Amino acid sequence: MDIETLESLIKNRRSIRKWKQDDVPDELLKKAVELATWAPNGGNYQGWHFVIVKNKDVIVKMADAVQSAADMIASWPEIKSWEEDVKRYQKNTSFFRNAPAVIGIFISEYRSVMDKVLLAREPVDSEANRIMGFRRFAPTAIQSASAAATTMLLALHQMGLGALWLASPLMAKKEIETILKIPAEMGLVCLIAAGYAGESPQRDRKPVGEVLEFVR
Ligand SMILES: Cc1cc2nc3c(=O)[nH]c(=O)nc-3n(C[C@H](O)[C@H](O)[C@H](O)COP(=O)(O)O)c2cc1C
Repeated sequence: MDIETLESLIKNRRSIRKWKQDDVPDELLKKAVELATWAPNGGNYQGWHFVIVKNKDVIVKMADAVQSAADMIASWPEIKSWEEDVKRYQKNTSFFRNAPAVIGIFISEYRSVMDKVLLAREPVDSEANRIMGFRRFAPTAIQSASAAATTMLLALHQMGLGALWLASPLMAKKEIETILKIPAEMGLVCLIAAGYAGESPQRDRKPVGEVLEFVR
């Protein structure tokens, strides 16, 4: 593949929030997950787990759980300063109920040897606690799951599917883990909603010069 082809794949992928109701073949979804498992991941530990949900009732149950959480949050008096944004969020949080397929990405905690040392040391050493704080800021397992999610989105796009990375379902993390009977040692990171795209949105990016600096 030349760089122009790769560039076009990366730049033409968009988050899709409306889908046609056509079935997505299992083999495509399975291939997207298989390719996702080739993403870089901490220590090649591969402590991830993927669940492909095509059962409409199960997708609706997950979406209802997310909507309930959003409704509860929207009822709190603390939303006052951000009421308009919260109400918009509340309205646009469970639309993934219309996706023909939803893929859950779950992780188990990954502890590198450094984490083990730092965790053992931090109760007696503020420096160990400070360094562990840096690692907690960007947990390796979350970084690994994100690499898998990105790879999956690109694969789904190349297959002609429209997909969306969803972090908002974390509002109903426990409920979704229960609905999907996920073992206690695994935790939800995100959902990927997928189907044949029913929209073709355009989105842009800041010029790279605004977000990049070289140190030479
Ligand atoms: C970590 C992460 C979480 C996201 N969570 C949501 C979400 O909960 N709901 C949603 O509609 N979009 C979600 N998105 C999609 C972003 O809104 C989208 O990627 C962004 O607006 C840029 O649009 P594009 O992907 O079409 O370039 C998420 C994306 C990422 C990477």
